[in-house]
Amino acid sequence: MRTASRTAEHVALFRALETRRRDRLFADTYATRFLPARYRWLVRAAAVPPVGHGIARLIDHLHPDGPRMSAIARTRLIDDLLADAEPEQVLILGAGYDSRAHRLPRIPTTYEVDHPATQEAKRRLVADTPHVHYIAADLNDENLADVLTKAGFPSRCTAVVWEGVTNYLTDAAVDRTLRDLTKTTAPGSTVILTYVDRAALRADTTWHRTVADVGEPWTFGLHPAEVGDYLTERGLDLVGDLSTRDAAIRYHRSDPAADFYRIAWAVVG
Ligand SMILES: C[S@@+](CC[C@H](N)C(=O)[O-])C[C@H]1O[C@@H](n2cnc3c(N)ncnc32)[C@H](O)[C@@H]1O
Repeated sequence: MRTASRTAEHVALFRALETRRRDRLFADTYATRFLPARYRWLVRAAAVPPVGHGIARLIDHLHPDGPRMSAIARTRLIDDLLADAEPEQVLILGAGYDSRAHRLPRIPTTYEVDHPATQEAKRRLVADTPHVHYIAADLNDENLADVLTKAGFPSRCTAVVWEGVTNYLTDAAVDRTLRDLTKTTAPGSTVILTYVDRAALRADTTWHRTVADVGEPWTFGLHPAEVGDYLTERGLDLVGDLSTRDAAIRYHRSDPAADFYRIAWAVVG
């Protein structure tokens, strides 16, 4: 990746559109600032409720696997999981245009790790605040433990958010990063990660084609039946694992969301 992540932009668009709805699952008032002009006008138009619903329906029609609702459902579920975790600090891996450090009330000190190109773009658009620490790293090439140690990351009870990222990494990078998380955070820390069902990794949907077209093809997935053992081998105890379709249902939304896109959460043993 030589330029800022385009898929991070897509997620910000979905969050900005969601924020305009009356029945929104969250309000992300930061999302619009990360968008290019061609998306901003869509968000402005979505302020009129029937237009907003029409735009959502059109996106869902063009992408019937439900990337929009999958992003919305996972965002809300992760917000809820973070609130339940009551961590001493938050670590966001592949933070993209995640604005939790700014929009969630009472969020503690937050460390955002991201690919240098995306992080640079984000930092141009968000004012520095003392409770947010930025760490630039390519997780495919760099060891998270080394990067965190160099940045003075304290080994406290942490909530780790790894949302929408593992599917862009190598098998080795996901393996190494999970092992590093158990080394660098305190026991009892929570790790929330999303992953794609390996069975759907090579499917040929408009979603798969869109991410490949912007230079961010999916490269990593897990079999849901094996996630518990996979995490145990890396020092984590699985607590929950939900598809984004089930997460959408949990929040009473019937818009299409993918069953192959999943959110797992675990505790450092
Ligand atoms: C789909 S975006 C998700 C962003 C954010 N987590 C969210 O949910 O809004 C994917 C993110 O993964 C990051 N990413 C992709 N490859 C990476 C790598 N090799 N090292 C670090 N970050 C990477 C991108 O920079 C981008 O921020």
